[in-house]
Amino acid sequence: MPDLSGKVAIVTGAGRGIGRGHALALAEAGAKVVVNDLGGSLAGEGADLSPAQQVVAEIEAVGGDAVADGENVADFAGAGRLVQHALDDFGRLDILVNNAGILRDRMLVNMTEDEWDAVIAVHLKGHFATTRHAAAHWRELSKAGDEVRARVINTSSPSGVFGNIGQTNYGAAKAGIAAFTIIAAQELARYGVTVNCLAPNARTRMTEETFDMGAPAEGWDPHDPANISPVVVALCADEAQNITGQCFHIWGGAVNALQPWEAGELFQAEQGWDADDLLAAFRERFPDGVAPAGMVAGMQKAGGRSLAT
Ligand SMILES: NC(=O)c1ccc[n+]([C@@H]2O[C@H](COP(=O)([O-])OP(=O)(O)OC[C@H]3O[C@@H](n4cnc5c(N)ncnc54)[C@H](O)[C@@H]3O)[C@@H](O)[C@H]2O)c1
Repeated sequence: MPDLSGKVAIVTGAGRGIGRGHALALAEAGAKVVVNDLGGSLAGEGADLSPAQQVVAEIEAVGGDAVADGENVADFAGAGRLVQHALDDFGRLDILVNNAGILRDRMLVNMTEDEWDAVIAVHLKGHFATTRHAAAHWRELSKAGDEVRARVINTSSPSGVFGNIGQTNYGAAKAGIAAFTIIAAQELARYGVTVNCLAPNARTRMTEETFDMGAPAEGWDPHDPANISPVVVALCADEAQNITGQCFHIWGGAVNALQPWEAGELFQAEQGWDADDLLAAFRERFPDGVAPAGMVAGMQKAGGRSLAT
């Protein structure tokens, strides 16, 4: 495991599920961890510091260093306090893992404004707010002449990159997070900050009701949330300083560095298109029509497949 001792990490939504796995793995690698979690329901209602405190206790029980934080990442000022918490308690910040999330699934025709706003706020604004405050800190250090080797690791989703029915709010936020990652990686490289993102699959309260992800009676468990965290630890190593702007789809032991939007099919008219001609060209190129394959098909294609083989 890469040695992360001396580094300080914030993991948002680290009281449960995948974030808890990240916090434990980062602590095991030697990092000090701010375990942030608002502690609400899956829909993002209520607050409870005890999940974060429990993870801190788990880290301390094996000799690690951690502190609990109950800020709401969707609150811009709260996100600033979270970054300051790391600086006040541990004196520095090296790693920000944006992981906190909620679900309010509904078919588009029935979705309420609240269901849309809450999901966009926690995921999309929740990524912006923490990253904005951390990045300002790292830029200050870089401008003062320090050698910064900082990490932002975001959390997208197969729903965002492949598209899942019933999740226009969540998938739009998660696709936005993948785009945010690419742009932030380009902007922050000059300050020594890498920005990557994950599109994980694991058995947590977020997935266990919808998907059949039962644990095997014995042997390795492909849906254990702990399977996601080695990607985080690897990306946090100093040796990963030149790996940035990537979105990693993780399914059991298969980690795909996804390809972003590509040029795809080209329809070209030298002097601009006439709509009739363009429609005819579409129909010729797509004789059977064309539509998204959906999330499960996308995940199956990604799992274990590489363009390099
Ligand atoms: N489980 C999967 O298969 C899967 C798939 C794709 C993406 N994800 C993403 O992974 C991340 C972790 O999800 P999980 O499956 O571990 O779910 P989870 O519900 O177990 O954990 C999410 C945690 O985030 C916390 N949280 C929610 N809103 C918050 C806020 N405003 N501020 C601070 N903390 C907040 C919750 O209290 C919770 O403990 C999420 O971003 C989720 O969308 C998970």
